[in-house]
Amino acid sequence: MRRFLDLADFSGDEVRDLLTLAQRLEEHPEPGALAGKILGLVFMNPSLRTLASFQAGMARLGGTSFVITPGQGTWQLETRDGAVMNGTAAEHVREGIPVLASYCDALGVRAFAEGKRLDEDLREPLFSLLDGLCGKPLINLESAVNHPCQALADWRTLDESGVPERGKFVLTWAYHPKPLPLAVPAATLHMAAMRGMEVVVARPPGFELPPEIMDKARRAAAAAGGSVAETSDRAAALAGAHVVYAKEWGSTRHYGDAAADARLRAELTEWCVRESWFARAAPAAKFMHCLPVRRNVAVADEVLDGPRALVLREAYNRMRVQMAVLHRLLA
Ligand code: CP
Repeated sequence: MRRFLDLADFSGDEVRDLLTLAQRLEEHPEPGALAGKILGLVFMNPSLRTLASFQAGMARLGGTSFVITPGQGTWQLETRDGAVMNGTAAEHVREGIPVLASYCDALGVRAFAEGKRLDEDLREPLFSLLDGLCGKPLINLESAVNHPCQALADWRTLDESGVPERGKFVLTWAYHPKPLPLAVPAATLHMAAMRGMEVVVARPPGFELPPEIMDKARRAAAAAGGSVAETSDRAAALAGAHVVYAKEWGSTRHYGDAAADARLRAELTEWCVRESWFARAAPAAKFMHCLPVRRNVAVADEVLDGPRALVLREAYNRMRVQMAVLHRLLA
């Protein structure tokens, strides 16, 4: 394995093998497995979990890591091909990434969507470029429309929480004051489809997931014996749900138009997940969110602090599954 960029690059059996390895490393720690290995981490955008869990995971396997946050103590990195670099960025990824890769044994990069043109972001132009520039194993720490580490951790969380393999998985849009990227909803949808679940996306009109993302998930669901549907009827979606996964994302109808997005979402503040949402869900239905989350804006305290919430376990599992990824890439 040389790349961990998209869960869709792996078969269901390969994902399950990674989860088995994560379990094995938890039960039988290998504190020297990556001795002498170095992980480089490049964060073009902020993080709490991804940053800390990769560093902790690498250390638990005996390796070390360095972190680059371009523009904060290091040169700002230009990512656009053909850019005339007369602005703030002093270095291009075309030099910066191979240089960093030459210092380490694997490189992880976080770079969110530009958020201007949906068709452009869906093509993942930066990660396509990085794929060619990085001669070492490369890990996607969240790209324009993908977050495979989160998806892998969430798969583990579902497995250990007793959510049925064929259970109903509701990915619901949640309110946020600003448009957020499509990376987590796209990766989550794909993960649940790959797991063979009955997946329903509940979102208000104007927040439909792009056909490219839905079609990819439908293909994964077909291969795994599951299904994928989308609706704006939230109550119908939530009926019988075994798990409700909330995520905030920007309007796809007004992608890149912050003012139009703001007008549309201003009417949608009641899309804050509350306990009442679970009235017709399956008994003991679970609640998931990748974090960070705005309390009482996207999700009410009563849900986050209640027995359904798996959010802290999801965050813990980030470290566990990433250790398996690192082990597979480097051991
Ligand atoms: N869920 C997640 O990726 O968290 P961070 O943005 O804090 O890394």
